[in-house]
Amino acid sequence: MRSRTAGVRGVPLYHAPCAPVGLYMIARLFLSAFNRPIPSSSRSFFRTMTSLAEFKQAPHKLLVIPGPIEVSDEVLYANAHPAMSHVSPDFIPVFGDCLRMTREVVFSTKGQPFLISGSGTLGWDQVAANLVQPGENALVLHSGYFGDSFTECLEIYGAKVDQLKAEVGAAVSQEAIESALKSKKYRLLTFTHVDTSTAVLSDAKAIAETVKRVSPDTLVILDGVCSVASEELRMDAWGIDVVLTASQKGLGVPPGLSILVASPKAIKVFESRTSPVTSYYASWKKWLPIMKAYEGGNAAYFATPPVNLIYAYHASLSQITKKAPTLEERFKLHRAASQKIKDTAAELGLKQLALDPVFAANGMTAV
Ligand SMILES: Cc1ncc(COP(=O)(O)O)c(C=O)c1O
Repeated sequence: MRSRTAGVRGVPLYHAPCAPVGLYMIARLFLSAFNRPIPSSSRSFFRTMTSLAEFKQAPHKLLVIPGPIEVSDEVLYANAHPAMSHVSPDFIPVFGDCLRMTREVVFSTKGQPFLISGSGTLGWDQVAANLVQPGENALVLHSGYFGDSFTECLEIYGAKVDQLKAEVGAAVSQEAIESALKSKKYRLLTFTHVDTSTAVLSDAKAIAETVKRVSPDTLVILDGVCSVASEELRMDAWGIDVVLTASQKGLGVPPGLSILVASPKAIKVFESRTSPVTSYYASWKKWLPIMKAYEGGNAAYFATPPVNLIYAYHASLSQITKKAPTLEERFKLHRAASQKIKDTAAELGLKQLALDPVFAANGMTAV
């Protein structure tokens, strides 16, 4: 067990009343300004939590929204890592491991992960900025609110977007997708794996099969903000070109990290663009060398990564990919737990929003 006594790590998160923490910070600023030592009595107060074994979240109201979700003690403790340089030799392998474990979570060996400070929405910007050129066509499958937002984002970057709208409580049919793909050449197709507004699950494998059969050049983009690590998803085997997600849902980490994995085909489409990327922060021209450097064991800088969140993400990914239950078991556990919720809701006379059990997500339920 690492013993951590320094700085922020010493603050007894959730156990300390707010006022003393605030007062301590003010006192610390004041004292450092005058270059005077902090009284030992206040130092010892802030060293009551020095190891993971001692750290437990205080009892609190259970958070049961579809995200942010509750996070484990291990993840919260990792988030409270002492301040660390993003180019420190200690941090570089942590970031590198996160890139490698991200691939494992989406069952990809060839995908290029991007871990960037931001929320899930930044994944849409990455897709719209890097993979579509102004005037190109995009097809958005709409199974709830998030289809509209992705559409808006694509249009802002100049894509011509068509939407296929499913009935509320259902996903778009394969027949409708096939006929749309036959009508026009689309640079990419996007769909929300689980739309958080309806809890509708789309059949990712079937959608990818239809696209490969009817329009093999069209990139398949999966919004997995509400599905990654809770719904079955096999990026390479199913032929998904982009999986984008965020830290705060199935991955069990506080919000703030945009997580995206791009297939070699998607990277090729990006590299063969003829027009410039019209975003500065979301540009893969900036981020690709950074991700490659960290995975190769070197530091590189474009914009400061969320160092503490990366430690938290590392803790969660280690639990998900290296410890029991395995990802396969997690999918089963989610299905079983979800069924219990759905059965209980039915006993209470509540009707699910999903029109058919095949459209019902397993990570969340809408009634
Ligand atoms: C399916 C889906 N896509 C995208 C987003 C946007 O993510 P964020 O709020 O992290 O920007 C959300 C947010 O809940 C979502 O549920």
